[in-house]
Amino acid sequence: MRHFLEVDDLSADELQWVLDMSSRAPEAAPPVLQGSGVALVFEKPSNRTRNSMEMAVHQLGGHPVYIRPEEVGMDVRETAEDIARTLACFHDIIAVRVFRHNLLERMAACAVAPVINLLSDDAHPCQALADLLTVSQCIGLDRIERVAFVGDANNVWRSLAIGCAMLGIPSTLAVPDGYGPSGATLDRIAALGGECTVTDDPAAAAAGADVVYTDVWTSMGQEDEQAERLAAFGPYQVTPELMSLAADGAIFLHDLPAHRGEEVAAEVIDGPASRIWQQAENRMHAARGLLAFLAGTALHGAASAGSALHGAASAGAAS
Ligand code: CP
Ligand code: NVA
Repeated sequence: MRHFLEVDDLSADELQWVLDMSSRAPEAAPPVLQGSGVALVFEKPSNRTRNSMEMAVHQLGGHPVYIRPEEVGMDVRETAEDIARTLACFHDIIAVRVFRHNLLERMAACAVAPVINLLSDDAHPCQALADLLTVSQCIGLDRIERVAFVGDANNVWRSLAIGCAMLGIPSTLAVPDGYGPSGATLDRIAALGGECTVTDDPAAAAAGADVVYTDVWTSMGQEDEQAERLAAFGPYQVTPELMSLAADGAIFLHDLPAHRGEEVAAEVIDGPASRIWQQAENRMHAARGLLAFLAGTALHGAASAGSALHGAASAGAAS
């Protein structure tokens, strides 16, 4: 049984397959979820993730069921394992947004249905799929030379950096001292063959980059740290001056929600280099590609996903 808790739960070939499938028009998507339910469990708020997943499930012929934060009661009302086993009675795929990443691992360990990470404190792999799809559309995966992430070494950065490593895209992170990635994360990226450099200098990161990416400085669950984070990250705002150091034709990306005047200046996020709405829409297309892959493996076996679905993606990419 396959799960998607981080981007490298896919092989590099499978990641490319998902991106190819995501590039197909919704109406060309195979109805692999016909008659299937997909549980969408949220411990944290969401706009993009909930809506993109619901529509992607619908486009594949399935039925999404949204479960509100107050309904979940993860490890309070019942254990994460019992929640997973219960949801698997009704659904073929379980997608979950949590604080503690370990909850996802425990649900996946039950092996009752594929588990998708809809964001945890550690990782946001569905976002990274949409980000890579946007890069492929706007620049080309064979042409991009480097991605710069300016800000916190958070869940969004980690999944993006892992995805870049898998596709052979060098990345640079500019982050203040004390907010950088763990050695384990850098080792994981290096083990994938990825070139990921870390600096405390935003200008050095942005210089010559094809993509300048940022995210909020205070993630969900870190609200108590907001004042100190605002102070630490102040010099890391993506400004027009910072963007002017990037490569000709460089684009600006942000997973959203954004705070204009904090991590990004309004002139950048609302300016000509910004591709944030294309990126937001790509959440739905990437979710469709991922669900098609997981539904193929869960409902028809890994062999089917590796042959029939690969064929479907290739046909779609060619048409
Ligand atoms: N980018 C993203 O995951 O947005 P939501 O928190 O609104 O789902
Ligand atoms: N890093 C942010 C991403 C929100 C989509 C958070 O975890 O709150």
